[in-house]
Amino acid sequence: MAIILSGTALSTDLATIRSKNTPIDVFRSAVHRIGMHLAVEASKHLPSRDIDVTTPMETTTCAVIRGGVVIVPILRAGLGLLDPLLSICPEASVGFIGLKRDEETLEPHEYYRNLPPSDSDTTFIVIDPMLATGGSMSATIRLLKQVPHSCIIATCLIASPEGVAAMTEDHPDVLLICAALDRQLNDQGYIMPGLGDAGDRLFGTI
Ligand code: PRP
Ligand code: URA
Repeated sequence: MAIILSGTALSTDLATIRSKNTPIDVFRSAVHRIGMHLAVEASKHLPSRDIDVTTPMETTTCAVIRGGVVIVPILRAGLGLLDPLLSICPEASVGFIGLKRDEETLEPHEYYRNLPPSDSDTTFIVIDPMLATGGSMSATIRLLKQVPHSCIIATCLIASPEGVAAMTEDHPDVLLICAALDRQLNDQGYIMPGLGDAGDRLFGTI
């Protein structure tokens, strides 16, 4: 299932990150705010359990997050969304998957993996700004499905229809949350209209 977020504040920040004239500091802070929208939406879908809490007035039942949360940025560009996710899930652990897309084949190649221990109550939240062919996100989720977990949520800033279709085909059980759904991929596998290369724009490597 895919959720595409909406809202005027969100689309204002999307306009900022899309513009090729946006300076890097403004780009980063707009990505951070969009990441907050993604984090809030993801937080609504975390598994919960009920606990009793005694207020100064009486004892009541509250729903709290069940199990641990592990946030998994896909390196490099996923790092741009890490701080907002940690703001909403401050007790989360962080695991890392390093993938680089081959510019010819568009296949992702893994160069780094460092995941914390997980168990059957763990929720993974995967973060990556761009869902283009969907290859990087799909490969990451395939890998996470091999370790103990209860739930996996995928989040991105901008998705292509091709990426959403790939995720629906490969991982129909995973909730996908996107801040925007764009028109199409171009022949080089870039999202149109998109924002260009998210890693380059975040890290000033253009
Ligand atoms: C970009 C982006 C995603 C991937 C999306 O990363 O951050 O990880 O491409 O493309 P896909 O859906 O077709 O797999 P890239 O491989 O360029 O690495 P980077 O984050 O180091 O720039
Ligand atoms: N990776 C990016 O950074 N941007 C795209 O449009 C596609 C893949």
